[in-house]
Formats: sequence, structure tokens, C-alpha cells
Amino acid sequence: MLLTCSSPVEVVVGAADRSGPSRNRRTLAHQVRYAVRHPERVPAHARRAARDAWLRLRYRHDHIAYYRAVMASDTARSVEAAVGHNPSRERWAQLGRMQFDYLVRHGLRPHHRMLEIGCGNLRAGRLFIDHLDSGHYYGIDISPDILLAAQDTLVGEGLQSKVPYLALADDLTLAFLPDARFDVVHAHSVFSHSPRHVIEECFAHVGRVLAPGGFFDFTFDRTEGREHQVLHEDFYYRTETLVALAARHGLSARLMEDWEELPHRQSKMRVTVRSDAASEGRSEAHGGSLQ
Ligand SMILES: C[S@@+](CC[C@H](N)C(=O)[O-])C[C@H]1O[C@@H](n2cnc3c(N)ncnc32)[C@H](O)[C@@H]1O
Repeated sequence: MLLTCSSPVEVVVGAADRSGPSRNRRTLAHQVRYAVRHPERVPAHARRAARDAWLRLRYRHDHIAYYRAVMASDTARSVEAAVGHNPSRERWAQLGRMQFDYLVRHGLRPHHRMLEIGCGNLRAGRLFIDHLDSGHYYGIDISPDILLAAQDTLVGEGLQSKVPYLALADDLTLAFLPDARFDVVHAHSVFSHSPRHVIEECFAHVGRVLAPGGFFDFTFDRTEGREHQVLHEDFYYRTETLVALAARHGLSARLMEDWEELPHRQSKMRVTVRSDAASEGRSEAHGGSLQ
């Protein structure tokens, strides 16, 4: 059985707990240490390991179908826990607020257009929708179960008049979206659950939908040691791997140091279209700042 200290998906940590980038959660030593420290979490891990074995039989070659089934299973247990570790509504709201405040500090204004990849049940999306002009928020997700829960959030928050778009996606080619549309593309706790080919697909296409001057922010589980995954749900990448992957698709990526100060275990990167790549494809270069 594999144990991971961030399972099932995401945790809020104190700054002092952000000690994990070099740990490999797949090693037996790590798993034993973790089980001894947190015996109460062992049954949940056992359940996840059994689910992983079962789902891998059906979806071995299709990560999206696999993860969609994970989300169906998690959402049926608790919508809040499906998008974050802690099932409490308070933590759910806190994580959403952290994402929202960060982007507002970085210049998100009501007239901007935003695409949220992996919008979940609008933990942060509800705040973005409220902040942005009507029709300026577009959320996509691979899970129909969580998108239904997102509609419940919209109703609960009385946000119908903002007419946000919510769409089911099967891949990250973003093919159904227009060119140069979005000032901000945001993906929180999505690449932490994505194998490399899914991230690369996103990098190959996100530049097309970014408006001039726009940026794409995503969080990921960072390791400074060996890259690894746990139970095909949690993926750990080195920063330089993602920088190099982005560069292959004409994008610049950098670690957001000010996010590291916040009480959250994942790291955040910002991607912009490289000015040389932008001048090949478009008239305006992307500077990475909003106006
Ligand atoms: C941990 S939840 C986070 C949800 C939301 N971003 C938030 O912060 O509350 C991850 C979400 O990403 C979705 N997801 C995972 N892989 C995806 C992909 N390749 N494309 C779009 N959505 C994806 C999942 O269905 C889930 O709703």
C-alpha cells in the first residue's frame, strides 16, 4: 500500500510544514514513518489503494477517465473533500479565498476574462465570478459530478445573474475556445493530479487562448528530489522540468515566490507566452502583467 502525506488531494499547512520538496512519498521508509505518525489515516489510504487497483484495471491507458472516476467516487462521499483534503466548509472557503486574494493582488480586475481549468465546485470560482463582469468567467472540468456541484454553489451564492460558463472537458486542447480570449488562465491543484502528458497538452494549447499580456497560473506539487507519483492521483514534479516543458511550447514559466509565503503545500508557477514566440504568431508580446 502506498501512503502519501498530502492525500487525498490537498492540504493547508503552516509555513513551518513546508519541508517536503525533497521527500519521495513512494519510498517504503516514508510510508512506514507516515503510518506511524498518522495511524488514524491508514484506513483511508487502504481504501484509496483498493480503489486505485480497481480503477486501474478499467482505465489503465486513460488518465482522464481514471481521474473522472476518482472524482465521482470522492464527490459521492463529500464535495468539499473531493476538491481538497479537509471536508470542512470553512477550509473549503479558506482555500478559495487564498486563490482569489492572490490573483486580485496580482491585478485581476472586473473587466478581465478568466478561464479556470479544473474549476471544481467553484471553491475559488464563486469569488472570481462575483468579482468579474457578467460572462467573463469560464470554468472547465473533466468531472460531470463536480460540475453539478458547481451549479449548486452558483445557486447557493445567488450568482446566476453573472452568467458564468461551466463546461465539461475531455482533454486540455481547449479546442472549443477562441483565440486570444483570456487575460488570466488559472489551474489550482490540477497539475498536482496530472501526469506529464496532460500538462504538456495544456502547455501546447494554452498560449493560443491567452490574450496579449495575459498569464497562466497553476499550482503543482514540487519535489527537489526524484519525480514520482502516488496512487496515480498525486504527481510530484521538479520546477525545472515544468520550465523546460513550457519552453518547448514557446512559453516562459517561473516559480511565484510570493505564493511560497502562504500556508499552502503546493507551489505556484506563472506561464506567459515568450515574446519571441508571440511575435511569430501575433502582433503583441505577452508581458505577464494585467492592465
Ligand atoms: C483538487 S480539485 C481543485 C478544484 C478547484 N481548482 C479548487 O481549487 O477548488 C481538482 C479539480 O481538477 C479537475 N481536473 C483534474 N484533471 C483535470 C484536467 N486534466 N482537466 C480539467 N480538469 C481537471 C478535477 O475534476 C477537480 O475538479
